[in-house]
Amino acid sequence: MESIASAPGKIILFGEHAVVYNQPAIAAAVDKRATISIKKSQNKFTTLKSYDLDFEARLNTKDKTYELVTGKPGIIRYILEVLYQVHDHSPIDILLSMDFPVGSGLGSSAAVTVATLAALYGFHNKKFSKKTLARNAHFIEKKVQGVASPLDTSISTYAGLIYLGRDKKISRFNIDFKSTFIIGYTSRKRSTSKVVNQVSRLKDRNPDIINLVMETIGSVTEEAKLAILRDDKTKIGELMNINQGLLDSIGINSVELSKMIYRARKYGALGSKITGAGGGGSMIAYCPNRFGEVYHSLKKYDNAIKANVSDEGVALKIRA
Ligand code: MEV
Repeated sequence: MESIASAPGKIILFGEHAVVYNQPAIAAAVDKRATISIKKSQNKFTTLKSYDLDFEARLNTKDKTYELVTGKPGIIRYILEVLYQVHDHSPIDILLSMDFPVGSGLGSSAAVTVATLAALYGFHNKKFSKKTLARNAHFIEKKVQGVASPLDTSISTYAGLIYLGRDKKISRFNIDFKSTFIIGYTSRKRSTSKVVNQVSRLKDRNPDIINLVMETIGSVTEEAKLAILRDDKTKIGELMNINQGLLDSIGINSVELSKMIYRARKYGALGSKITGAGGGGSMIAYCPNRFGEVYHSLKKYDNAIKANVSDEGVALKIRA
């Protein structure tokens, strides 16, 4: 028997970082997924392999350690934590496939966590609801990162375009937001927890100012929610640019991201900003009528992919 689960990556349109301080955020799942397959192993140990990420490891699920066979596993801590929490420690073979880069602000850790949890529930024939899955995946992310809002794990579970309110309630926009975004990502990987902690220290040194910045990002997100509901594309873009200015002010931009952000605007994006934690990672460009031009202009500079908003949340398949 093989249990196969997949979950989408995400882009944050509005509100990253501020969401950690209970401000609202808007995020969308994209048509790029993480897939985990789990089978009973013929070996006496558990293996984890990824051809896409070019690594192989032997896992000790009881004490969350591993031995590398080849490559460098960026994402392994999340998988080990899920196995530790949910698995009975019998030997299994895990295969991880990724169709988007890890450590780039596109929600790879949340997508891998959600997919691993769902695949393990399937493997153990355990029924689950999306609500339980999202809650447990958030618990795992927090355990590994130290700090995490429920945004990434919720979007990887439910997909679509979602709004996370100040009360931590998730609501899906009931509109057909079928936009294509261009994602530009730098080759510089960074850890979400490090960037989140860096912002927290900045806030400790300048509490009055940074609290105001976070509240202002919250106001931008509230206005963006209304602009999305009335499909006001120009306003959505303008608010993304304002959000970018505020993200820049909390020190999470980089020269490479900044160049891509301005390049995208020059080639016709209505709005462009960092997406996710920043400090390296990715930017998004909102360019409903000009995505060809923006895509090619970013591709010439660094890595770029086209991503469509996706309604396909976590999915589980059992093969006999
Ligand atoms: C990371 O994708 C988004 C952050 O707001 C952190 C979080 O929400 O946990 C930077």
